Amino acid sequence: MIEVNNLTKKFKSTLAVDDISLKINEGEVFGCLGHNGAGKTTTMRLILGLLRPTSGTAHVWGKPLSQNPHLRRKVGVLLENDGLYENLSGEDNLDYYARLYEIPDRKNRVSSLLEYTGLDSRRKDKVGTYSRGMRRKLGLARSILHYPSVLLLDEPSAGLDPEVQKMVRDLILNLAREEKILIFLNSHDLDEVERICDRIAILQRGRVIACDSIKNLRSASSEPGVVIVLDEKENPDKAASVIESFEDVERINQTNGKIRVVFKQGKSPDLLPALVNAGIRVSEISRTSRSLEDIYLEIIHREEKQK
Ligand SMILES: Nc1ncnc2c1ncn2[C@@H]1O[C@H](COP(=O)(O)OP(=O)(O)OP(=O)(O)O)[C@@H](O)[C@H]1O
Ligand SMILES: [Mg+2]
Repeated sequence: MIEVNNLTKKFKSTLAVDDISLKINEGEVFGCLGHNGAGKTTTMRLILGLLRPTSGTAHVWGKPLSQNPHLRRKVGVLLENDGLYENLSGEDNLDYYARLYEIPDRKNRVSSLLEYTGLDSRRKDKVGTYSRGMRRKLGLARSILHYPSVLLLDEPSAGLDPEVQKMVRDLILNLAREEKILIFLNSHDLDEVERICDRIAILQRGRVIACDSIKNLRSASSEPGVVIVLDEKENPDKAASVIESFEDVERINQTNGKIRVVFKQGKSPDLLPALVNAGIRVSEISRTSRSLEDIYLEIIHREEKQK
């Protein structure tokens, strides 16, 4: 359904998308991950035909959307610019788009989506008065109003509270499983991606550095390791230098008092005695489970190292 071949986009001197090829099928929930500026939104805009590629192609149902408005109508989209009118109420916004899309039984469709997203009680209020989460929900309702077959979502749950995040997640899963809609989403929420995506691509500086099912990426990703939580008064650099002295340690990664240690293949050194001997207060040490975050960071680091 979505097929991207050797897609490249240059903005003056910035190579935002660099020779990307992807194929995504009906009913799949496909997640695109990557650091800020990796090229996720640009890729989505290229697929939507909102940007012209420098080279390569982005096709949906075998054709570029930019030249096929009838196909564009079967695509739902939620970008950062959600296309909502601030001076119209939530209901009028949906109604406006429902007219545009010539949706049969318009009033009912609008009402059911307002109810579904929990915005029913605010339906008459102007969108300009909505909270960010409410606005996001309305944007999502707008994106699926016309029963699309392909849905592109740029960070759908960014800034939403956990309850609404769950609603969004359930909605996405339901659309994919029950209605066989293809969903392509960009996200920084690795936990969410792990729960809902069948396959992911990891982008780095415009290139796809990994593209597979989470299961395959997990089994291909290497060494086990530990996460060490230090006493809050402890100096992480001191602990890091002790850990780094172990030959069996592949690499370490420090973030706010936590040290993530990855061991070399097949190795499992006992770090605790050395840390204790060095007088470092460890408040917790545990084996890492291979979360998507671990896998993601590992793949990103591996690439960085090869540079
Ligand atoms: N219209 C534009 N003009 C110039 N440069 C742009 C434009 N749009 C994007 N870029 C650049 O292209 C690169 C990729 O940006 P993009 O928005 O695709 O990243 P992203 O992966 O979506 O990042 P984020 O996670 O922050 O949303 C960045 O270096 C960005 O500055
Ligand atoms: Mg983006």
